[in-house]
Amino acid sequence: MDTSPPEAMIDLIKVSKIYPPEVQAITDISLTVNRGELLFLTGMSGAGKTTLLRLISRMEKPSKGMIDVAGMDVAKLPQCKIHLLRRKIGMAYQDFKLLPERTVADNIAIAMEVVYRPKSSIEKRTRDLLEQLNLTQKYTARAGELSRGEQQRVAIARAVANWPEIILADEPTGNLDADTTARVMDLLHRHNRKGATILIATHDKTLYQQDTHRVIELSFGRMRAPQAEMPDADDAYGEFIPPVSEV
Ligand SMILES: Nc1ncnc2c1ncn2[C@@H]1O[C@H](COP(=O)(O)OP(=O)(O)OP(=O)(O)O)[C@@H](O)[C@H]1O
Ligand SMILES: [Mg+2]
Repeated sequence: MDTSPPEAMIDLIKVSKIYPPEVQAITDISLTVNRGELLFLTGMSGAGKTTLLRLISRMEKPSKGMIDVAGMDVAKLPQCKIHLLRRKIGMAYQDFKLLPERTVADNIAIAMEVVYRPKSSIEKRTRDLLEQLNLTQKYTARAGELSRGEQQRVAIARAVANWPEIILADEPTGNLDADTTARVMDLLHRHNRKGATILIATHDKTLYQQDTHRVIELSFGRMRAPQAEMPDADDAYGEFIPPVSEV
């Protein structure tokens, strides 16, 4: 049995983000996500879920606080080293960010081409992912012609294609029916079992209510009190911060 202490993969210490001129999107969040953990990030629209994922991937810089990802001080990472961080992260964006004129296969291949994977291995992985996500027929379709639910699945396939150490999935099932949601969650769980550290931002309670993984709720940019059924959550990891109305 492995008795070594868990290793922090993502560590946020008192992180705040203010978008200019004065939108307080994240306030004083401290959170540790261990290597190999799968964590749900929930909270109402505007709570700061996407901002938190963007801070972790250094698409935004924090206004205050420290962010460590895989041993890198993310806020201080020089421009020329950001690719080292991004290579560790697969991000499925809430608005997909596909290349609409390119085929589905091209969109998924991009992450793998960047690291010079052989063509045959790229094609095999792309076909496998499309099969798992029930999109086999769309291999050569233009991404811009797909339905939103199909585009969402392509975005997820692209995010996981390279077996990244960290997967950040922003509302990965927002446009999907129950069966397709189950396929996407199966895919994410499979990557988690192979060692990926995964953060899933979602409004969808059904995703995490039957799941044993940790759930963090954001409320107006702060980490909310843990739910009654998770009494030890603040002891184990994040710092407890009462809701704004009680401060
Ligand atoms: N680029 C930006 N410039 C200014 N304000 C922003 C920017 N991006 C987000 N915000 C604001 O920051 C706050 C948090 O937004 P964020 O997108 O992180 O929320 P969210 O929890 O992901 O919401 P949703 O569930 O709707 O996706 C909101 O008040 C939003 O209006
Ligand atoms: Mg969002």
